[in-house]
Amino acid sequence: MIQRYTSGQPIATDAAVRELPAETIESFPFAHRRDGGRFVFSFPLEKDEIVYGLGETVRGINKRGWLYRSFCSDDPYHSEEKHALYGAHNFLLHGGCGIFIDFPAEIRWDIGYTRADEAVITLDGEDFDIYLISGATPRDIVREFRALIGPSYIPPFWAFGFQQSRWSYHNAEAVRNVIRGYDEAGIPLDAVYLDIDYMDHFKSFTVNEDAFPDFAQFAAGVRAQGIHLVPIIDAGVKKEEGYRVYEEGRDKGYFCRNEDGSDFEGGVWPGAVGFPDFLRPEVREWFGEQYRFLTDMGIDGFWNDMNEPAIFYSAKGLEKALEKAAGLRGQNVDLKQFFTLKDAFGNLSNSPEDYASIYHEIDGRPVNHLRVHNLCGASMTRAAGEFFEREFGKEKIMLFSRASIIGAHRYGGIWFGDNHSWWQHILLCLKMLPSANMCGFLYCGADLGGFNGDATPDLLLRFLALGVFTPLMRNHSALGTRNQECFRFENTGDFRDVIEVRYRLIPWLYKTFRRAAEEGDMMFRPRSFDYPDDPVARECETQLMLGEECMIAPVYEQNVSGRTVYLPEEMVFVKLSGSRITAKEVLPKGLHYVRVALNEVPLFIKKGKSVPLCRPALRTALLDTEMTELIP
Ligand code: GLC
Repeated sequence: MIQRYTSGQPIATDAAVRELPAETIESFPFAHRRDGGRFVFSFPLEKDEIVYGLGETVRGINKRGWLYRSFCSDDPYHSEEKHALYGAHNFLLHGGCGIFIDFPAEIRWDIGYTRADEAVITLDGEDFDIYLISGATPRDIVREFRALIGPSYIPPFWAFGFQQSRWSYHNAEAVRNVIRGYDEAGIPLDAVYLDIDYMDHFKSFTVNEDAFPDFAQFAAGVRAQGIHLVPIIDAGVKKEEGYRVYEEGRDKGYFCRNEDGSDFEGGVWPGAVGFPDFLRPEVREWFGEQYRFLTDMGIDGFWNDMNEPAIFYSAKGLEKALEKAAGLRGQNVDLKQFFTLKDAFGNLSNSPEDYASIYHEIDGRPVNHLRVHNLCGASMTRAAGEFFEREFGKEKIMLFSRASIIGAHRYGGIWFGDNHSWWQHILLCLKMLPSANMCGFLYCGADLGGFNGDATPDLLLRFLALGVFTPLMRNHSALGTRNQECFRFENTGDFRDVIEVRYRLIPWLYKTFRRAAEEGDMMFRPRSFDYPDDPVARECETQLMLGEECMIAPVYEQNVSGRTVYLPEEMVFVKLSGSRITAKEVLPKGLHYVRVALNEVPLFIKKGKSVPLCRPALRTALLDTEMTELIP
């Protein structure tokens, strides 16, 4: 059952696909108050109660004990002290009740942080809808919620293949080398990414003709090898005379504005940019049409980036900082002045003042950015997703985004942004999966091997052994980091073994994914969903249930030959490696230490269940999905 409570005049987010009758907020059953333009509500937390939700965030599956912030943030340092990442996924589940806050401005979630026995939620505004969702089990509540927010995006089949990315493959030859490297090592591959350097001076919907001469022919050649090219699209449009996309956007008045009505100018990769006002339907239609430049050349996969929006600096902010610096020239700069100067530049990026100075247009009226911040990236995804569906139909184009809000799950997937080549980020990815799934985001995954920092082959292998199960399985890393394509390492055979397991599982993973999408279910579940009465399973956050058949438990530490797992019931422990099944052992309920080599993928299959495997192939298109063998 769902009960909707409305306050004020909510800005339409289109998150819900069902129109429910609304009660006034006065009858909202939780303790609540208004506080200087904010709305605050709270509820008690029972001692052992788990609080789920919030999608893409730091920390655990159980959100208790921390302060989270729904404010889509470009933050490349996913450490525990952070409060916000790229998504604003305003769904919480506790004590038999789901809470969905349909509100695009900032929300603070104090989940037992200030007081261990209380959750206090603060909305930065008074115009919103809150939905309370009840159901017999947490899984039922999720299904009920998902029926409210509509079906999750389903990508084309090939998007379940292994994908290789890097910032950047700087030219056509570099891309061909990656494909050659994988093919020569016999490691399956379905996609190679084009990061910002494929563009002409970082202008979205252009190609750098020097680095990629005759792009259409190049793309066709890559495609003939069975590989999909996946270019990045950035939200900011370079401010440059003669650049068609910019001139059109400016002339039509499609960019976000300053208070005085002039175009807001931010600085991102290309320098000065305008930000399309994706909240306006006509701007979405126009921006979506721009993808045609690439789809016309056979491109059928995209990743939308920097759409929180990330702003390195604004014209106004930079000017102020430069003035400050100029004022100090020739002086003996003391400590205080030095730090003020440092801060003047250090605080330029994604600054609250800049965000507060931006205006959107809704129904012809200016609306301050802070009221709608979390809708920006999501609306960019929507622009692209709507174009793809209009033009090609459903499930034809792969699309995922960095920033998102609930509602965008209908148009594309998400990736978990700029993580690090850290062991702890294997677990962070694992923990985000069920949380993202609850919120409708099924096509998702982390940068395998880690984006920032240097990956080691063992880290990458362990990361990949989790990535074998994530719908988006992509290896990506940052400029200046060690090359981490699988064929670069001496033990390429180990990488082949792990990635071949993915291909063997693809038909089953795809089916499991599809079912979750069609039934509004989760692909990955916390174990407490399935074993609510088992105290050990309830608390364990390093293992997940996958589909109806399995439990996964990746190895996530360095220099270990295995890990401890807890089985809440008897299961068959299977190890897969390439085409081999290297172990198949019935393990009783309880704690076990299982050994897992670097080239093995562990899987735990529930009693009476089985998982089909097909033969591996170098591309998804070459998979014989009928040729299945059942394990155990
Ligand atoms: C952002 C993205 C990252 C990308 C980089 C360059 O940091 O999150 O994935 O490689 O920009 O485009």
